Amino acid sequence: MTGFRTFYDFGSLRSFLNEGAKVPQIGLVPTMGALHIGHVSLIERALKENDIVVVTIFVNPKQFNNPIDLEKYPRVPEKDLALLNVYDRVVVCIPQVNDVYPENDPYEKIELGLLDTVLEGEFRPGHFDGVAHVVHNLMFYTKPSKAYFGLKDIQQLSVIKHMVASTKRPVDVVACQTVRDAHGLALSSRNLLLNEAKHKEALIIYKTLSFVKSNIKVLGKEETLKQAQAIFNQSSLELEYLDVVNRTTFGPYEKEGDDNVCCISAFCEKVRLIDNILL
Ligand code: PAF
Repeated sequence: MTGFRTFYDFGSLRSFLNEGAKVPQIGLVPTMGALHIGHVSLIERALKENDIVVVTIFVNPKQFNNPIDLEKYPRVPEKDLALLNVYDRVVVCIPQVNDVYPENDPYEKIELGLLDTVLEGEFRPGHFDGVAHVVHNLMFYTKPSKAYFGLKDIQQLSVIKHMVASTKRPVDVVACQTVRDAHGLALSSRNLLLNEAKHKEALIIYKTLSFVKSNIKVLGKEETLKQAQAIFNQSSLELEYLDVVNRTTFGPYEKEGDDNVCCISAFCEKVRLIDNILL
């Protein structure tokens, strides 16, 4: 069962995966395409830990609360396939909307609690319902043992872990390190929408996060965030939020704990960028 393959529906993907005498162990890497080195690192980790890696490419309309954002989301399928076809044990699935969300939808909506009301939850209403729904259905139809997600979207990761636990999907959710460029900018498909000058300006995001990490234990939460915001405000980016929270529950920052994260969201021109740093 080797050789790069592309499928456009789950039925033919499953028939292919079930062809051999033994059902392979599947690692799932869900993506919305516009693949970059960050995705490659997820795929390479998944290749080490599974027989076959299924990469899904699906720009999920349900997770975009802003129609302009959905329209502008980069779509470069030929480039994506060219990047992936060097891998022998990778199969790509590019399903259609009706395939992911059939009439007989297997998903039953779950409550997301605090995760859906703070930070990303507050600024992108409905976004995490869409993420939980799509990831559930992608898992339901591709039947992976493990699924791989980047820590860059740390709140998304908590939502997915919560969804997997609540719906009892038998999948290990694997968190993978954020991949950064040489200057610290977290890799994201949205970076494709930044020109060179904006790309440089966006480095303020990592600078601000690093400031928080280096200072919070000494200066405390309030003072650190105040100074960090002043540093950030020297740039032309527009801050949406900058906060420190518990990295699992997204409840309040715990002064004594080692389980905190600083999260940021900002607009660089019209491109919305998010990032975080573990504290
Ligand atoms: O992180 C992403 O690219 C998306 O939110 C995901 C997990 C593929 C679900 O559409």
